[in-house]
Amino acid sequence: KLPAKVKLVDVGPRDGLQNEKLPVSAETKIGLVHRLQDAGLTEIEVTSFVSPKWVPQMGDNAQVMHGIQRKPGVRYSVLIPNMKGFEAAISAPREEWPDEIVVFGAASEAFSQKNINCSIAESIERFAPVVAAARDKGIHVRGAMSCTVGCPYEGEIAPEAVGRLARLMKDIGVQHIGVADTIGVGTPVKVQRAMEATLAHYAIDDVSGHFHDTYGQALGNTLASLEMGVWQFDTSAAGLGGCPYAKGATGNVATEDVVYMLHGMGIETGIDLDKLIDAGVYISDALGREPNSRASKAIRTK
Ligand code: HMG
Ligand code: MG
Repeated sequence: KLPAKVKLVDVGPRDGLQNEKLPVSAETKIGLVHRLQDAGLTEIEVTSFVSPKWVPQMGDNAQVMHGIQRKPGVRYSVLIPNMKGFEAAISAPREEWPDEIVVFGAASEAFSQKNINCSIAESIERFAPVVAAARDKGIHVRGAMSCTVGCPYEGEIAPEAVGRLARLMKDIGVQHIGVADTIGVGTPVKVQRAMEATLAHYAIDDVSGHFHDTYGQALGNTLASLEMGVWQFDTSAAGLGGCPYAKGATGNVATEDVVYMLHGMGIETGIDLDKLIDAGVYISDALGREPNSRASKAIRTK
């Protein structure tokens, strides 16, 4: 029942760095993308085209998209909240367009308001023309659903709310959907309920998990999802990250830790763990801290 192969999407350059208080140079971000692709990552979430007033750290989005040297077979994605962001992303020459965009909504009304300043229903209205325009241009569309198990403002979130959002995303043409535990409060069975609610609307091949590791549950949640047949996950090298509108939440589960677990289970990822560890060390050095990955630390101190 367990998948033989797993695809990891490294969201470190975006989810990982969006929350950093001190500026990180575009050059450093580009260096991270290059190291991740060299380590074998085939999908990288590079940046977001959101308002720089809301998320200053991503204000260099165009510069980063311009600076990366693309490797064949790698998909480069960016977060897009509205038509303005989409237009900015495609104002560059064709070869600098994202291969994939990510529209991001929330299963919680309060989080939707705090994060993107509109209700869930309004967010879908905003996303619809973005999705249509992207698909028209041959750009793949992924959706992210925040707060699928818990919300920093509303507490526990019912699977029904997740199912409703998944249905709305499907109806506007979102091709792939990510089930996110934004604040890392989920535990395996709760995550499975959120996955089940999503799988009522999306095929297993079009669903991924995105688990923040605040409570140390992300590997368990990953395994619980694998057991349902989910084979795509968002992770961050060195466990970078957090969301500026989810106070206290820590980074995504470290890519290194997930790769260690998967390889130990005989599941293929196509990722070279040593090179990945180097990528995590590179970005952590730039931030002046240790990688937030147990596998990285254990292997480096062996
Ligand atoms: P708003 O203030 O309601 O938007 O923000 P607005 O349309 O009224 O525009 C206000 C100003 O922003 C205007 O500028 C617009 O031009 C500008 P002004 O006239 O004041 O000078 N603006 C933009 N500028 C650049 N790019 C744009 C853009 N749109 C408007 N795309 C908005 C609404 C959605 C823009 C805002 O709330 C926002 O940018 N939010 C982003 C929040 C964010 O990035 N959060 C983190 C990512 S989500 C996440 O981390 C969760 C995830 O990882 C999954 C999980 O873990 O749950 C994906
Ligand atoms: Mg996230």
